[in-house]
Amino acid sequence: MELRLKNCVIRPWRSGDEESLVMHANNRNIWRNVRDRFPHPYTLEDAREWIRLAGEEYPQTNFAIVVEGEAAGGIGLVLKDDIYRCTAEIGYWLGEAYWGRGIVTEAVRALTRWGFEKFDLSRIYAGVLEWNPASMRVLEKAGYQFEGRLRKAIVKENQVMDEFIYAIIRE
Ligand SMILES: CC(C)(COP(=O)(O)OP(=O)(O)OC[C@H]1O[C@@H](n2cnc3c(N)ncnc32)[C@H](O)[C@@H]1OP(=O)(O)O)[C@@H](O)C(=O)NCCC(=O)NCCS
Repeated sequence: MELRLKNCVIRPWRSGDEESLVMHANNRNIWRNVRDRFPHPYTLEDAREWIRLAGEEYPQTNFAIVVEGEAAGGIGLVLKDDIYRCTAEIGYWLGEAYWGRGIVTEAVRALTRWGFEKFDLSRIYAGVLEWNPASMRVLEKAGYQFEGRLRKAIVKENQVMDEFIYAIIRE
């Protein structure tokens, strides 16, 4: 899988990405907007483990966002099961050095299209922490619609807060 876009390339994680992954992922401003299982601080050992896991998954749904030749971010789908098997959750992050250039919007658009083409999905959604308007904006620009606010659904940095749900459905 490789999606060549205007400002970035989306492709599988591979060995050799470890150093740039650590450089971009080891950032509290990223960690505070993602799941707690995203390590912080982000070590070389964490990077090796992630690249190993991403390489072993089948089907492959987690990819690197490559900017100017280096793996500077991640984007992926979590395919749900049972009665949610036509749903996937999308997640993403990008190294702060590249924020504000439209890169993740482009990546979300492309991975969403790829997800609908590749899997039997009717819905892709994202849950955003209430203090993350940039991510909400990305989703809006990529064609997702705001569906609702799950009150006090999240705890991050010991703060209980609301989760904003955005989704796109297969037309
Ligand atoms: C959120 C994130 C993915 C955005 O990536 P990006 O490549 O900078 O996004 P884009 O440049 O495509 O778009 C960002 C939009 O948010 C807007 N924005 C940025 N900060 C904002 C703020 N504080 N309030 C409102 N809008 C904001 C930008 O102006 C831009 O919108 P515009 O094109 O209308 O001007 C990136 O900042 C990131 O990795 N954050 C940490 C991890 C994270 O939040 N992951 C998502 C978890 S749901």
